[in-house]
Amino acid sequence: MVIEPRTRGFICLTAHPKGCEQNVINQINYIQSKGTIEGPKKVLVIGASTGFGLASRITAAFGSNAATIGVFLEKPANRGKTASAGWYNSAAFEKQAQAAGLYAKSINGDAFSKEIKQQTLDLIKADLGQVDLVVYSLASPVRTHPETGVKHRSSLKPIGQSFADKTVDFHTGVVSEVAIEPANEDDIANTVAVMGGEDWEMWMDALQKENLLASGATAVAYSYIGPKLTEPVYRKGTIGRAKDHLEATAFTIADKLKAIDGKAYVSVNKALVTQASSAIPVIPLYISLLYKIMKAENIHEGCIEQMHRLFKDRLYNNKTATDAQGRIRVDDWEMREDVQAQVAELWTKVTTETLPALGDLKGYADDFFNLFGFRIEGVNYEEDLNEVVEIPGLQSVIPSN
Ligand code: NAI
Repeated sequence: MVIEPRTRGFICLTAHPKGCEQNVINQINYIQSKGTIEGPKKVLVIGASTGFGLASRITAAFGSNAATIGVFLEKPANRGKTASAGWYNSAAFEKQAQAAGLYAKSINGDAFSKEIKQQTLDLIKADLGQVDLVVYSLASPVRTHPETGVKHRSSLKPIGQSFADKTVDFHTGVVSEVAIEPANEDDIANTVAVMGGEDWEMWMDALQKENLLASGATAVAYSYIGPKLTEPVYRKGTIGRAKDHLEATAFTIADKLKAIDGKAYVSVNKALVTQASSAIPVIPLYISLLYKIMKAENIHEGCIEQMHRLFKDRLYNNKTATDAQGRIRVDDWEMREDVQAQVAELWTKVTTETLPALGDLKGYADDFFNLFGFRIEGVNYEEDLNEVVEIPGLQSVIPSN
C-alpha cells in the first residue's frame, strides 16, 4: 500500500516502514561516524523501540558492539493497517544489527507484567548469561500493577493550583491559552505508580535475584527537569512527582547493586519531540522556541546525539560526573543560562502571528512526522510497499489491549 500520515491530535495513526528504517539507519550512521565507545557488552533496554530507548540501543550496539535485548509494546501490521512506528524501528534495528553480526533479540509485550519480566529473564539466562547494562526508558500512560491488578492512569496536571499558559497546536501553528485544573491525591498517586521508580526497582530486583547482572553492572533510567516556565505542568506537577520518585529509586537500586559492585543512575535528558513529550501541554511550544535558540547556537541535539554523549562522556568515561542530587546531566546545554534567558524572552512575545518568526515550529512538526517515518529525506513516499514487516529476532507477540 501507499502509506500517508494520518494524524489525530498528537498521535499519528500510520507509520512508514521505509521511513522508520531510514531513521534507524541515520542514527546508526551517526554513531558509527563517532568511533568506538569502550562501553557495555551485553545490554537490556526496557522501552527500546522509540525515542531515548531506541537511541540507547543503537548507541550500545553500534558504538560498542554490544549484544542487545529490547523490550517494548508495539503493534504489528495487519493487512491494510500499518504497524506502529516502534515496530518498524525494531525490525530495522534488528535487520541492521544482525547484518553487522551483532546479537539482537526483542520481546514485545507489557513490561510492567510479571510474564514479560520472566520471559526476559529466561532469554538473558539462555542467550547472554548476564547483562552489564540495563536501560530503563519506558514512557506509558497506563500501568496494570502486577501485584494488585489495579490499572493506574497517569495524568499531566499541576499540583496545588490550577495553571494557565500558552500552548501551540503544532499542526496549525495556532497559539492559544490552555487551562488545567489541579490534580487530586489519586492523580498524583496514579502518576507515580505509572512513571515512578517502582517498576524499575522490580526489574532490577528480579535480575539481581536470578544472578543475571554482571559484576560492575550499570542501571540507568531517564528523567527531565526543564525550566521555570514548564514547572507547573512538568517538574512541579504530577509527572514531576513521578520523576522525584524515579530519581529517589536510583539510590535504592544503587544500594542493592553494591553487592555486585554495580551502579544505578538517573540521567536528566534534554526536551525532545517524542511520542511521549508531544502529549504534554505547553511543552511543544517550549520545544519550538528552544529548538530555534539551540539551532542558532549550534548546540541542538536529537535523541541519538544525547545518548552518544551519555554513553561516551558520562557513563563510560571512567568517572561519571553527577550533580548535587546524584543525577547525570545531559540537559546541560538546554539549561544553559543564556539559552534559557533567550527562550524566556521569546515566550513573552510568542503569539500565533509571531511564532513563525520567533520559533522553529517547522522543526517541531518535522521531528513529529519523522517519529513515524514521514518527511525523511531519500524516502519515496509514492512507493506501493508491503506494510507487513517481521522483526527478525522477535521472541513473543502479546497483543496489547
Ligand atoms: P517514547 O514514547 O519515545 O518511548 C517509550 C518506550 O516505552 C517505547 O519503546 C514503548 O514501546 C515503550 N513502552 C511503553 N509502554 C510499555 C509497556 N507497557 N511495556 C513495554 N514497553 C512499553 O518515550 P521517550 O520520550 O523516549 O521517553 C523515555 C524516557 O525518557 C521517559 O522516562 C521520559 O520521561 C524520559 N525523558 C523524555 C524526554 C523528552 O523530552 N521526550 C526528556 C527527558 C526524559
